This record gives sequence, structure tokens and C-alpha cells, in this order.
Amino acid sequence: MMARKATIFVICAPQISGILHQEIKALGYSGTTEHALGVQLTGTLEDTMRLNLYLRTANKVLWQVAEFYAATPEQLYQKAGKLPWEDEIDVDGYFNIDSYVKNDTITDTRFANLKLKDAIVDRFTRIKGRRPYSGPEKDKTRIYLHWRDNQCNVYYDTSGGVIAKHGYRKIPGKAPMLESLAAAVIMASRWDGRSNFINPMCGSGTLAIEAALLATRTAPGLFRKNFGFMHLRSFNPEKWQAMVQEAKNKVRPTSALIAASDISADAIAIARTNARAAGMEQYIRFAVSDFKQLTVPAGEGVVILNPEYGERLGEVEELRHVYQALGDFFKQQCQGYWGYIFTGNRELAKVIGLRTKRKVAFYNGQLDCRLLEYELYRGSRKAAG
Ligand SMILES: C[S@@+](CC[C@H](N)C(=O)[O-])C[C@H]1O[C@@H](n2cnc3c(N)ncnc32)[C@H](O)[C@@H]1O
Repeated sequence: MMARKATIFVICAPQISGILHQEIKALGYSGTTEHALGVQLTGTLEDTMRLNLYLRTANKVLWQVAEFYAATPEQLYQKAGKLPWEDEIDVDGYFNIDSYVKNDTITDTRFANLKLKDAIVDRFTRIKGRRPYSGPEKDKTRIYLHWRDNQCNVYYDTSGGVIAKHGYRKIPGKAPMLESLAAAVIMASRWDGRSNFINPMCGSGTLAIEAALLATRTAPGLFRKNFGFMHLRSFNPEKWQAMVQEAKNKVRPTSALIAASDISADAIAIARTNARAAGMEQYIRFAVSDFKQLTVPAGEGVVILNPEYGERLGEVEELRHVYQALGDFFKQQCQGYWGYIFTGNRELAKVIGLRTKRKVAFYNGQLDCRLLEYELYRGSRKAAG
């Protein structure tokens, strides 16, 4: 039997669909369309497995069941009841429904979920005389309803959990970056995967670990044991095993110098533990150091820092000194490198006092952030020792 092909919608955080699109094209996919919150393409369940395994900047991979017009909950029930759910959901299985609903006839999204659930289980009872379980557990078959105005889209959520979290990190530390964001920041930088990657203020180590995963070509999906696609009837475990093996065979050591440091010994202990969990400890040189005391090795590459942004006024005042010192650090220590500051505070960014070459917009959670790029020319300073 030919494998079913359907629309695949890969969701991502705002501002990174361009980077996600590049990732998808690099995996060999064509016929892709970029949207504000993701990338659309067409493919089989096997394609969703591949995307879940390799993508670093995605949140979820959705595989469409159907798209239809529904103005009211009753129409949703009628139309969803005609779809062949039994093709992918086991009659003895368990499914969970999540939704995004923006429709005038619905005030509570739970009601939309309930109507869709009823449509599915009533269909099973009609056809098979029995029905699968459904409820709040999210580690089995996942269904996602997107209902905007009168347009309904129902999908299998082939990721299950959000794949923006790459699954290796055990300890979050203070204000950690989400792994998908860290990967997107690195991909937006000029790092080539071979030159130096210097990450002072590394906190829990996300940027350095993601850099090492990129350099070693380690697929982020290798850390996850459970995906939504594993709970669909057309899932083929042998194919998945072969795909995982192929991904493992692609992993190779890296000789890139990846250095991570932080003023806090606790942060470095956490970062080291996290790097170990990701199998990347051997590739990262850790140090407890104030960035002001750091000697950056001569060479080429990137220096990326994610300083605190400050939420309260007093904190912001204190941070002015830190941001000022960052400018000095770039000028005096990082010549020949590309410098990057990831921050959510534009006023503080101005204090750095260097001309930005480029600004890339990102969201860190709900917060509007920028990755600021500085070209740090060689010989543009007085001798810095
Ligand atoms: C926003 S957090 C970085 C979070 C990191 N991107 C992550 O994913 O976990 C900022 C870090 O800068 C560190 N820090 C603050 N002042 C510093 C300094 N003067 N030198 C080095 N690190 C510093 C803090 O200890 C903290 O871990």
C-alpha cells in the first residue's frame, strides 16, 4: 500500500521560520512554504519521523488529517466524524486532543476538544463497536485542532512533546535559553562549525552544547525516547530504528574549540553536567571566569554572550556597567572574531558603544530580543597586552 502523503506543518517560535526553512531545505525537502510561525510541506509519516529526528529549531511537526469548513461545533462534529481516524488510531489506543480555537461560536476551547473527541469515539463505536480511550495524558496519540473563523484543520501531532527542548538537559540553571532558540541564534551567526566558538556567560551551557551538537552533527532527536508518531498505526519501528542508526552514523568528532565560561562556579557545574548528559562534555572547554578576566585565544570564530537583561530598575542600573565592559571586552580581547550579544534590553545594548553590523530579531518566550552582531577588526585597538 502506498504511504499516505499529507500536508506537514512544522511549527516554530516567532521570527525563526526563515532559519527553520533553511534546515528543512538542507534535509533535502523542496516544495516548502514559509509562514510566520512555521514551514509547510507535503510528506508521509516517514518524513515527519525524519523531521522530528533532525530539526533543531522546530517546536512541533504536525501531519494533517484533513482541512474543512466548520462554522459551529455541530459542523465540526459532523465533518470530523467522516474522517478515517481508524486508519491511524488503534481501537485499543489512547488519544489526547489539543487545540487553538478562534471562532465566534466557541468561548471555551475545551468544548471544541470535546466535540472532536465525541466525533472520533462515536465513529469508532459505529464502525468497530468499540472505542479508544481519550483523556489528558500526552504521551500517546496526539491530535491537534486548529480552528480559526470557519476553517478547521486537524492534525496528528507527530512530535508529542515539544521538540524545541532537545531532551538532554537535566538542570535548567538561571534564565536558560530554550535549545531551539540557542540553535537558531548559532545558525543566525557566522559560525562555520569549525572555527572557535567562545561563550562567556554560558549559564547552563545551552549555546555551547548546541554548538557542539551542530559541529558533531548530532541529531537532537537522538535524545528523545517518545514521539507522537510512535502511537500511530502506520508507524514502522524497524524503519525508525534504521533512521536512528543512520543519524548515529553521521555523528563525527569535532576539533573546533568550543569554550564556555561563567563567573558562577555553580553555573559551570550545571553546564558541565548538562554537557555530559548530551554526550558533549569532551568537546567543551569549561572555565569559571569573569568575562573581564578572560583571555580569548587568538584566532577566528565567534564570541557569543547572553547577558542578563534586568527586570527591575536597580538591576538595569547595575547592568549598565556590565554592558559597558562588554564593549571593552570585545575591543580588547576579541579582535578578528565576530562578536554577538543576545539581549532583550535595547537601552542596555546601546551602552556597549560599538557599531552593530547586523541585528537579528528573536523572541525569548514572550520577550522581544535581538542578536547584535559586531565585526571586531584586527588591529583596531591600542595594545591590550
Ligand atoms: C542570562 S544568563 C545566561 C543563560 C544561558 N544562555 C543559558 O542558556 O543557560 C547570564 C549568565 O551570565 C553570568 N554572568 C553574569 N556576570 C558575569 C560576568 N561578569 N562574567 C561572566 N559571567 C557572568 C551569570 O552567572 C549567568 O549565568
